[in-house]
Amino acid sequence: MKIIISEGSGFCFGVKRAIQAAFDTADREKSGVFTLGPIIHNPQVVSRLEGLGVRVLDNADATDDVRVLIIRSHGVGPDVYESVSGRGIRVIDATCPFVKTAQSHAETLSREGYQVIIVGDRAHPEVQGILGYAGQDAVVFGKDDHADRFSIKRKVGIISQTTQSFNTLQRVIEEVLPLAGELRIFNTICNATRKRQYETGKLAESVDVMVVVGGKNSANTRRLQNLCEAQGVSAYHIETAQELQPEWFNDAQTVGITGGASTPDWIIQEVAEHLREL
Ligand code: F3S
Repeated sequence: MKIIISEGSGFCFGVKRAIQAAFDTADREKSGVFTLGPIIHNPQVVSRLEGLGVRVLDNADATDDVRVLIIRSHGVGPDVYESVSGRGIRVIDATCPFVKTAQSHAETLSREGYQVIIVGDRAHPEVQGILGYAGQDAVVFGKDDHADRFSIKRKVGIISQTTQSFNTLQRVIEEVLPLAGELRIFNTICNATRKRQYETGKLAESVDVMVVVGGKNSANTRRLQNLCEAQGVSAYHIETAQELQPEWFNDAQTVGITGGASTPDWIIQEVAEHLREL
């Protein structure tokens, strides 16, 4: 059985940067270090940090003994910065620069009187953060939402969650275009996501089975699985090598592996190793 790992798999630049910030802070500070939400959608990395004393805070208003608060790559809305200011908390802002760009476009569009449409998953923390900059009229369109003349204003600006699929962004643009009088579009899907999706799609075309590695709660990993299935190939989403089932590969000559933005390279290598043993 031939095993091919997709190019662009594993930690992206923004996730690497946030994790580095968390480990560096754990080295320097003795106590009171929290991340606002899990630093990445990967339980193995989160528990390694917990072992170093970095705890997870559910919301910035919590009254725990917070001395240092690390903001993860997803970013946050302005309300979070307001809620920690004046409380003697040192903020380490690891918001990915690509997310900052999306936030800044949302803010500018809103200020200039555009209704902001965010193409993304409403419940995702990155989208929640961007919404904080996008004004009262902002709406979120996910993959199953459709634009109609009641929900669209005359001046509209479209931006995207950085890890959104290009097809969903394109579909929303096509739906909004005939309804809006003026339309501005910022393609804020980040370069790492574009490369990951492109390489995964290309690999899925040429293998019998795809294994998609990443946290079960990672939306960008689930999107990779959808992308593979859309190419007509069987795709299995796993978090660790132990979940691999030999029967998935009964007739497979070639197996592709890809991983989400928060999947460590060592887990991908472990999956490849386990597959070789099978
Ligand atoms: Fe940043 Fe893109 Fe990663 S937005 S956190 S480089 S997936």
